[in-house]
Amino acid sequence: TSEQKLQLVRGRIRAFPDFPSPGVCFRDITPLLKDPAAFCAAIDLMEDHLRKTYSQIDVIAGLDSRGFLFGPTLAQRLGIGFVLIRKKGKLPGATESVSYSLEYGKAELEIQADAVDPKQKVVIIDDLIATGGSLWAACTLLKKLNAEILECLVLIELKTLEGAKKVTPFKLCSLLQYD
Ligand code: PRP
Ligand code: ADE
Ligand code: MG
Repeated sequence: TSEQKLQLVRGRIRAFPDFPSPGVCFRDITPLLKDPAAFCAAIDLMEDHLRKTYSQIDVIAGLDSRGFLFGPTLAQRLGIGFVLIRKKGKLPGATESVSYSLEYGKAELEIQADAVDPKQKVVIIDDLIATGGSLWAACTLLKKLNAEILECLVLIELKTLEGAKKVTPFKLCSLLQYD
């Protein structure tokens, strides 16, 4: 059942207090990636959620770098394309860029100008939402390309940082929530 799949996934997320800086509790997904059954369960849950929520999705957009661990597999399941939202300076050709702040630092994200067509229906995927700065930046980039953002989907939501508010008016969905 989906509750069993969720338990399998939850059991493969490790917590590291005070990494990478004091006060941050780092949620480590590497045990999940090492366990094919748990990784498959995570992708199953994301696929099921998207299939039952939307009649059409054109593109999955994933965030550099941990969004790349889930996005392409999910896009393959759905039979649709995957596009990259990358840290600055990695993408050739015409790009849009936006700077943002995150739980421990500051960065800039970019997308190729031709990554999606106007009106295309996009789901944005990442491993985790903390402050929501990264997903806010991703939404801003896709808005610049006039895409239709269906939702942001993450494996893990750190509730106390209220990242969901930061991505408003767009919807945020998460498989697992932590305080
Ligand atoms: C982490 C994580 C999310 C983001 C969440 O990525 O993978 O993308 O932080 O934080 P936020 O909600 O406060 O923006 P990070 O920028 O550390 O880089 P990585 O994915 O390359 O490890
Ligand atoms: N990215 C931002 N905050 C994080 C956290 N607490 N754990 C893992 N990745 C993160
Ligand atoms: Mg990331």
